[in-house]
Amino acid sequence: MQSTFPLFPQAASSVASEVDLLYFFILAVSAFFAILVSALVVFFAVKYRRRHPDEVGHDIHGSIALELLWCVIPFVLAMVMFFWGASLYFTLARPPADAMDIFVVGKQWMWKVQHPSGVREINELHVPIGRPVRITLGSEDVLHDYYIPAFRVKMDAVPGKLTTMWFTATKVGTYHIFCAEYCGTQHSGMIGQVIAMEPQDYEAWIGGGRTTGTAVENGERLFTTMACITCHKTDTSGRGPILSDVFGSTVDLQDGRQVVADENYLRESIMNPQAKVVREFQPIMPTFQGTLSEENLLQLIAYIKTLKAPQ
Ligand code: CUA
Repeated sequence: MQSTFPLFPQAASSVASEVDLLYFFILAVSAFFAILVSALVVFFAVKYRRRHPDEVGHDIHGSIALELLWCVIPFVLAMVMFFWGASLYFTLARPPADAMDIFVVGKQWMWKVQHPSGVREINELHVPIGRPVRITLGSEDVLHDYYIPAFRVKMDAVPGKLTTMWFTATKVGTYHIFCAEYCGTQHSGMIGQVIAMEPQDYEAWIGGGRTTGTAVENGERLFTTMACITCHKTDTSGRGPILSDVFGSTVDLQDGRQVVADENYLRESIMNPQAKVVREFQPIMPTFQGTLSEENLLQLIAYIKTLKAPQ
């Protein structure tokens, strides 16, 4: 029904119909009470109008039953909206562990995409249907917002940090991508297309793309060329911390704090190494701000995530 009605985007992801259902529920509740209240205002205004100049109204002594009714009903409705919305929010905020990783970098005024195999594209995003896709978003310059209406997902691309969103496309087709955050004169032109394909078509497409190595391989190369490797060794002889198994671990800092080494921690430690210095290490690491592009940074992080201590 929705695809024939141009006010609504198509529903082409696993969460789309759930988001719509919640939206329509809230809309229906709001519409019902708005109409009820306006109709009663008019009805009572007419029914209890003053008919003679000397007419005086009766006193009202209240009604506990009525008071309870108009407290309990809105409370229940508000709680339904809250818990329903919160549960959907948690679904949207937690990518499944087996999701495929795609990197997207916003830049005035385009979207640069990098697939796990290293294939890149601009302003287009090819994805297989039926498989969760986790998008890691960065920004090269200002605030942008990656918005795919047909999937009902939307996330800010924030300069200086990484954000994530995820979806599972359910229907083959081509859908809009918009930038949903005003980002300069060409903001309205910062658009693109998601192309959702059958898994075998996606494999064929990705196989035909040109690549200079996977994201992890490129990250490994950067790890050497940027000389990370001279300080971050696999044994304790390095001047920097060992990075094996660091991703997802809890790190003790010089100032006594503890942080979980997630993607944003790794990003900050590369761009602004003095911000969180690991305990028992010196703040000697140079910043890579301005040296590494956001895409290189994502490759480096992808590589660091694969580093495992020998068993
Ligand atoms: Cu990028 Cu608006």
